[in-house]
Amino acid sequence: MTRVTLTVNGRVREIDVETSTLLVHAVRENLRLTGTHVGCLTGDCGACTVRVDGATVKSCSVLAVGAQGADLVTIEGLAGDDGLHPVQQAFWDEFGFQCGYCLPGMLLTACELLENDPDPDDAAIVEAVNGNLCRCTGYAAVVRSIRCAADRMRETP
Ligand code: FES
Ligand code: FES
Repeated sequence: MTRVTLTVNGRVREIDVETSTLLVHAVRENLRLTGTHVGCLTGDCGACTVRVDGATVKSCSVLAVGAQGADLVTIEGLAGDDGLHPVQQAFWDEFGFQCGYCLPGMLLTACELLENDPDPDDAAIVEAVNGNLCRCTGYAAVVRSIRCAADRMRETP
C-alpha cells in the first residue's frame, strides 16, 4: 500500500492505495465519492471525468498514486453553499440530461471550457464535450445547456 495525500474538494485527505489502483476506483472506494462514474474503463466515455489541478482528467486512465499532492475536484465539489453551480442549473433548466450517468463528467468538462472560453460557439462546445459520451439525451440539449450557462455566467460573473 502507498499513502497518497491530496486535496479533495477543498479538504486534505489521505488514502492508502495499491500502486496499481486507478484514480477512479480510489475516488469511489477510498474517498467514497460515488458521483464519479465508471463506464468503459478505457478512456473513451468520460463518465469518470474529474479535475486534477484544474484540468479535466479521465480518472480511469491514471493511477491514484499519480495524484499525490494534487488538487482534486469531483462532481461533489461543484455546488456551493448557495446552491447549484450555474452549469448545473443550466443543465437542469435546459433538460441537458436524462439518466444522468454521463452528467458529472459532462458538467466538469463544461466548467473547464467556460473557464477558458466564456463565450464559446457551438463548434467549440461540441469539441469540448467530444470525449464525454451521452447515450440518452442527445447533444443538442447538452450544447444548449452549456450555451445557457455561458450566457448566464457572463451576465453574472
Ligand atoms: Fe473512464 Fe470511460 S470510465 S473514460
Ligand atoms: Fe444518460 Fe447522458 S444523460 S448517458
